[in-house]
Amino acid sequence: MLAQKQIAILGYGNQGQAHALNLRDSGSSVVIGARPGTGFDRAKADGFSPVSFQDAVQRSEIIMLLLPDQEISKIVQDLQLLLAGKVIGLAHGFAYVFGGIDSLPNCRYFLAGPKGAGAILRARFIEGTFLPGAFAVSHSELKPLAQDYCRGIGINPKLLIETTFREETECDLFGEQAVLCGGIFRLMEMAFETLVKNGASREMAFLETCFEAKTILDLWMKYGPYELSRRISPTAFYGGLTRGKRVVPDEARMELEKIFQEVRSGEFAKEWLEEVENGTPSLSKERERLKKSELDSLYQKMRDNL
Ligand SMILES: NC(=O)c1ccc[n+]([C@@H]2O[C@H](COP(=O)([O-])OP(=O)(O)OC[C@H]3O[C@@H](n4cnc5c(N)ncnc54)[C@H](OP(=O)(O)O)[C@@H]3O)[C@@H](O)[C@H]2O)c1
Repeated sequence: MLAQKQIAILGYGNQGQAHALNLRDSGSSVVIGARPGTGFDRAKADGFSPVSFQDAVQRSEIIMLLLPDQEISKIVQDLQLLLAGKVIGLAHGFAYVFGGIDSLPNCRYFLAGPKGAGAILRARFIEGTFLPGAFAVSHSELKPLAQDYCRGIGINPKLLIETTFREETECDLFGEQAVLCGGIFRLMEMAFETLVKNGASREMAFLETCFEAKTILDLWMKYGPYELSRRISPTAFYGGLTRGKRVVPDEARMELEKIFQEVRSGEFAKEWLEEVENGTPSLSKERERLKKSELDSLYQKMRDNL
């Protein structure tokens, strides 16, 4: 089904590159839409002939928007007339749920969201191991197309979950805020600082609180919580059981609930779009802090041997 349709990939960043290469290797016809710059040059180096967004949209039936979520609404506004009647794809539902792009004239929408960064999607496709992912459609007749697209980019059909734009958006935002980019990094950094403050060498502190965070998560994914509990030392298991609750007490559930409700109500989306409107000052400040941080310079020193 997908093989007969021309697909435009708008944006050749993290996801754009992986979707385009995997679709091409799966036999689909892909045209890249990119602005002049990094993505455009990378697409050329990968053997594509990138064109403007307008050209790519005009030539194609399926338009995949692989652009930063906070930019999608503005870009879609500029392309509105050309997009009428097309099938529009997204890798995440933010712009559909909170960005007002859900009702363009005669458009139908699908979501194909791999659970991982573009580089991993591509690497797993080459290995033939494939990533889990989720799909959603605005019209039920688009279901086979969305499933085909997901297969084409290398999502494992056995772990392709049917969802809705809203569910995917809420889960994705909540997951990154509470765990992936919120809880984990903050905990690693605070635990690192505690060890160093108490006299541990920076290298030892890094290995215990950061490097081993990755190895234990890999084991959790390989064995599951029960089997893992039998494979770590009883001392580690007991220490975690009795102290973990102090680090993340039951009261944290209330905060998790609040964070979820901020996502659901659109309060978070509003706050984030205001931050974007103001030129992302908080992001710049935090990046500057991280660049100068002890943890980053230590990582740079050790990275080749990790
Ligand atoms: N990153 C992930 O792990 C991940 C996972 C699943 C889903 N997603 C979703 O995938 C989508 C794309 O994310 P991404 O991480 O691939 O984005 P990204 O790496 O930041 O790539 C964005 C691309 O869009 C272009 N772009 C940015 N602003 C633009 C503008 N104002 N006008 C024209 N082009 C612009 C960039 O061009 P230049 O190269 O010229 O800068 C770049 O090629 C998002 O919906 C995201 O939520 C991401």
